[in-house]
Amino acid sequence: MPRKPSDSNQPCATALVGFGKIAQGYSQDKVMARVMKFASHAQVLTAHPALNWLTVIDPNPLALQAARQDWSIEDAAESIEACRHRHRIELAVLATPPQARLKEIAAFPNLKAVLIEKPLAKDLKASQELIDYCRRSGIQVQVNLLRRGDPLTRSLKEGRLQELIGSLQCASGLYGNGLKNNGLHMIDLVRMLLGEIASVQALSPTKLEESPMDGDFSFPFALTLAETGKTITFSPVSFKNWRENGLQFYGTNGRLDYLHGGLTVLHYPLSESRMGGGEMEVAHDRPEPIAATMGEALYQIYDNLLAAIHGQTELFSTGHSALLSTAVVEALFASHREGGAVKACRLEGA
Ligand SMILES: NC(=O)c1ccc[n+]([C@@H]2O[C@H](COP(=O)([O-])OP(=O)(O)OC[C@H]3O[C@@H](n4cnc5c(N)ncnc54)[C@H](O)[C@@H]3O)[C@@H](O)[C@H]2O)c1
Repeated sequence: MPRKPSDSNQPCATALVGFGKIAQGYSQDKVMARVMKFASHAQVLTAHPALNWLTVIDPNPLALQAARQDWSIEDAAESIEACRHRHRIELAVLATPPQARLKEIAAFPNLKAVLIEKPLAKDLKASQELIDYCRRSGIQVQVNLLRRGDPLTRSLKEGRLQELIGSLQCASGLYGNGLKNNGLHMIDLVRMLLGEIASVQALSPTKLEESPMDGDFSFPFALTLAETGKTITFSPVSFKNWRENGLQFYGTNGRLDYLHGGLTVLHYPLSESRMGGGEMEVAHDRPEPIAATMGEALYQIYDNLLAAIHGQTELFSTGHSALLSTAVVEALFASHREGGAVKACRLEGA
């Protein structure tokens, strides 16, 4: 059973563990600020009225100094054990590297919920242990796979994609900066918009070795959807040239481009084919932009988690769902190791 907050009228006592870029650094990025109203956890933690941000934990003294001076957080400590409010904390936000997240969660004795940065843990086994621990302990888990909180992406999932392009015929995507690091976002997006993935295949033995994560790299791959058997292909691009994480969908009634991780969304309806014969073509030369809402997504991820803590709604991005996306990533690395073998995506014990 999920643990309930001690007093549902009080703002949720919250700790931010790890105080680096996604925790607070991106708040200072003026370029990002043009499109991301909420680029960092610290921005949501200061803006949301139902959150009481009490604590920051980070072993880096400069991060602790920033917490005290820039964000007025007095309880800033180098370890969870050393923080003053450890026993009061109901929500822990884990913006650390993914090596020790289970230990971090277990160090808070009264947690009701965690918001965990992707990836969940260093591999699928450790991710599963983490989610099992939270289930046994009644701790709700929201995973920051950001597009699951984005209002526009949610509307696409809830029928707008079908309304715009009809039934899916095929889709393909680009990604870079590592399969575990960024490819995971695109795989999760495919699952969100198109349904579960039955099997995967690495399409080349090549490796594009760019990623902030150890042992991570990018390669071309294919995903086969469980329900329709349709295949979605992805190609890696080097972020040294330009960055892209995106997907192009072709349906029976047109095309939708979901680009720049959801910051650029373009709809292309059908028009009469210029080759005559009464046929139709996709109006590739006349895209209709759809206003992006990604800047709000992180706020929505918190807002939804707070509502779920009070039993008012389902979570947008559950631990179980993130495990399924992690299993797809792990199956892809296995396929790559085995020279492109087709691998089923199954979660043991699920
Ligand atoms: N959801 C997204 O779109 C998104 C975007 C960026 C990063 N991330 C993820 O967020 C996580 C952090 O990434 P980042 O770019 O902010 O990294 P970062 O290196 O900028 O920050 C990590 C911080 O954690 C601190 N830290 C390390 N070990 C710690 C521990 N045991 N306890 C407390 N603090 C500890 C470090 O000192 C550092 O300040 C990664 O898992 C990354 O993949 C997610």
